[in-house]
Amino acid sequence: MVTATAVSLADRYTAAFPGSKRRFETAKTVFPTGVTHDTRMMEPFPVYVSRAKGAYKWDVDGHQLVDYFVGHGAILLGHSPDDVVAAVQEQMAKGTHYGACHDLEIEWGQFVRQLVPSAERVRFTGSGTEATLMALRLARLHTGRPKFLKFRGHFHGWHDYVTVASDPPYESASVPGVPDAVAANCVAVPPDDLNAVEDALKADPQIGAVILEPTGGHWGAVPIRGAFLKGLRDVCTRLDRVLIFDEVITGFRVAPGGAQEYYGVTPDLTSLAKILAGGLPGGCLAGRADILAFIEPRPGKPKMKHPGTYNANPLSAAAGVAALKRVATGDPCRKANAAGVRLRNRLNELFAARDWPMVAYGDFSMVRIIPDYHGPRPAGAAGENDGLVPFGGDLNALDGPKNTKQLYAMRQAMLLNGVDLWGFAGMTSSEHTDAVVDDTVRAVETSVEMLQAEGLV
Ligand SMILES: Cc1ncc(COP(=O)(O)O)c(C=O)c1O
Repeated sequence: MVTATAVSLADRYTAAFPGSKRRFETAKTVFPTGVTHDTRMMEPFPVYVSRAKGAYKWDVDGHQLVDYFVGHGAILLGHSPDDVVAAVQEQMAKGTHYGACHDLEIEWGQFVRQLVPSAERVRFTGSGTEATLMALRLARLHTGRPKFLKFRGHFHGWHDYVTVASDPPYESASVPGVPDAVAANCVAVPPDDLNAVEDALKADPQIGAVILEPTGGHWGAVPIRGAFLKGLRDVCTRLDRVLIFDEVITGFRVAPGGAQEYYGVTPDLTSLAKILAGGLPGGCLAGRADILAFIEPRPGKPKMKHPGTYNANPLSAAAGVAALKRVATGDPCRKANAAGVRLRNRLNELFAARDWPMVAYGDFSMVRIIPDYHGPRPAGAAGENDGLVPFGGDLNALDGPKNTKQLYAMRQAMLLNGVDLWGFAGMTSSEHTDAVVDDTVRAVETSVEMLQAEGLV
């Protein structure tokens, strides 16, 4: 663990990660921005990772890093769990793509049906983005209504229909590169506002579906809890609209059956990905049999075309089956949630003890830290989903434009202290033990001191 000195944070980061710096110079000549996913962007350069196991990953300069990116949420069992590795290795030797039906896809789909309450039928896709694309198209076919409603700050992948209001400025109805005629099919309302939903649905009969991240946009930046979901289910049933839970993050994470199982609210359609495929690429849409039936050719009914080279790919299926077998026990979700609870509570104890204007919040295995926070403090230890929601849940305060200078400085400091935190946020896996979490809290303490030395918090 390092301590604050007169040498600048960026200089110390640059000196400690020379292999990553060198690789980034090359990467910039290949990729726009040098990285291959927007949220992997970092200044002065990102770390390059060569191996990962359990709660850790190791970079090309040999640092061991506690990982809170967890594969953008895809890793629940920790990195490279032995059972998933063995299943993929076995399948690799048998073939990676048959261009044909196979046993594993049936087993994989049956696991989804067994675990996810809304899953009467399942259709595999190549990613979560494809799953939400399919959800909206099927909803259009089922209802005959072209538009859908979403919540500001909720992320559903990067296809044209769902990018409206995903990022600040949330009030904007247009998105660079998306035709206005396409964007106009999306009606975005403030998060956690049931009246706004009901008003919008009553005012516009062209809206056929409502989609949301069921624990809140950007995995709970503005947390959503059970009462809202129950209210939303009621509104959608009363006004005859299709309710879509986008459980790409929360599915198999919050509970084996996702947020819908935990809160006892069953949507009509559910998009899934990430943990679904055990850390390999893959997604699916699950839901009502009569809605997924539009994929079938039926006399007198329109059929939705759905090819996709990597649908139910055998390698992803092997990883998915191995992962879901363990998810089905409930143990990984319990452990990941317990790690999230411990991390949030320990951080808030630290911030109170040091009298720092900071707070940690979030639900389940999702953790966020707010620097420069002068609001009320959590009254005591919180559970899985009953902690304080700062700023009264205000979207722009919780998930508005980021202070990237401060955010990159925090990442640099945390990396120097052996932790890869997602800026001021992260998710836990079942391998984030008490000891790992407590090490992380110590790393946060030292990192905040480093930012203080630079006047950044
Ligand atoms: C809630 C949610 N929906 C959809 C997606 C898109 O999934 P994918 O990246 O697999 O296309 C994501 C990805 O992070 C997500 O978090």
